[in-house]
Amino acid sequence: MIDLRSDTVTQPSKEMKLAMMEAPLGDDVLGDDPSIIELEEKAASKLGKEAALFCPSGTMTNQIAIKVHSNAPGEVICNELSHIYWYEGGGVMFNSGLSVKLIGGDRGRFTADMVEKAINADDVHFPESQLVSIENTCNKGGGSIWDQEEVKKISKLCNQKNISLHLDGARMYNAIVASQADEKEFAAPYDSISLCLSKGLGCPVGSLLLGSKEFIYKARRIRKVLGGGMRQAGMLAAAGKYALENNIERLQKDHQNALSIGELLRKKSYIKEISPVETNILIFELEDGRSAEKYIADLKNAGILAVGMGLQKIRFVTHLDMEGQMDELLEIVSRT
Ligand SMILES: Cc1ncc(COP(=O)(O)O)c(C=O)c1O
Repeated sequence: MIDLRSDTVTQPSKEMKLAMMEAPLGDDVLGDDPSIIELEEKAASKLGKEAALFCPSGTMTNQIAIKVHSNAPGEVICNELSHIYWYEGGGVMFNSGLSVKLIGGDRGRFTADMVEKAINADDVHFPESQLVSIENTCNKGGGSIWDQEEVKKISKLCNQKNISLHLDGARMYNAIVASQADEKEFAAPYDSISLCLSKGLGCPVGSLLLGSKEFIYKARRIRKVLGGGMRQAGMLAAAGKYALENNIERLQKDHQNALSIGELLRKKSYIKEISPVETNILIFELEDGRSAEKYIADLKNAGILAVGMGLQKIRFVTHLDMEGQMDELLEIVSRT
C-alpha cells in the first residue's frame, strides 16, 4: 500500500531505532533525562530561541502556547483554515477559555493589514485580542508557505499592540527547505514556535515548543497539568535528534515528488483544480458530479491511501516512507 494520507504515517528507520536504543535515559518530569535535555538545547540553539520543551504532540504544543500567551477572557486571531481551529477538538475554548477570531486570506495566509483590522479596540464589549497564530506551512492551504516579509510586518504590529505571535510550525522545516531560508531568521519573528518531529521529519512521536526561558518555564507547568510529562522519554528525544541531523534536507525530495504527482494529475480530465504545489501537500478538486468517496475507494483498491478534505477535495501528502514507491504510484495514478 502507498500511504499518502499524511506525513504522520512514517515509521522510524533502522538508523533512527538504533539511535533510540542507545539513548541515555533519566526522568524528564524530574528534569534529568539527558537525551531530552540535549534535544531541547539543540533545537533551541538551531532556531535561535532561549529554550525548548519536548511534548507528546503538536496539538499539545499549540495548546500550551495558547494557554501561556493568554489570560481569559480574550481571543486568538487566526486564519479560517488553521489547525488550531479545525483539528484540535475545540481546545482553544476548552483549555484557554478564549474565543477564536477567524480571518480569511490566501490558502491560510493573511496580511498585517488584515490583522490590524481584526484586533479589537480597547472596549469592554469586545474580547481582548491577545494572540495571533500563524500556520507555516498551512496544512489545509495545501502546504502553502508564508511570505517572510509579511510575517515580519505581523510580528512588528503584534509587538506594537502587545499581542503575542505564535507559529504552528508543524511543517516549518518544509517551509524553510523549500524557500531556502535561514532557520534562525525564519524563527525570529515569533514569540513561540510549535515544531512537529512526527511529520515529515519521520519520528514516531513528539513535538517541540520553543520560546523564551520565561515562556518555557510556564509551558512546563501547563504540560504537567495536561498530563504531558513523560518519564524515560529520552528514547523519543533521540529519534528527534536523529531527525534534526538527518531528515531535514531530504524534505526537498518530498516536495519534488509532490510536484511530479501534481504534473501527472493536471493532465487528468476528472480534475477540476489543483492547488499550487509548494511543499509536500497536494490538494486537488474533482470535477462536479464525480464522487470523492468513490475516487478514494478506487484509489484504495488500486493500492493508494488518501484522505478527503470535504466536498470534492482530496489530499495527498508525500513523505520519506513513500519515496521508494514513486514509480508504482505514478503508474497507478496514470491509469486511474
Ligand atoms: C498544522 C498542524 N498543526 C498541528 C498538528 C497537530 O499535531 P499532532 O497530530 O502531533 O497533535 C498537525 C497534525 O497534523 C498539523 O497538521
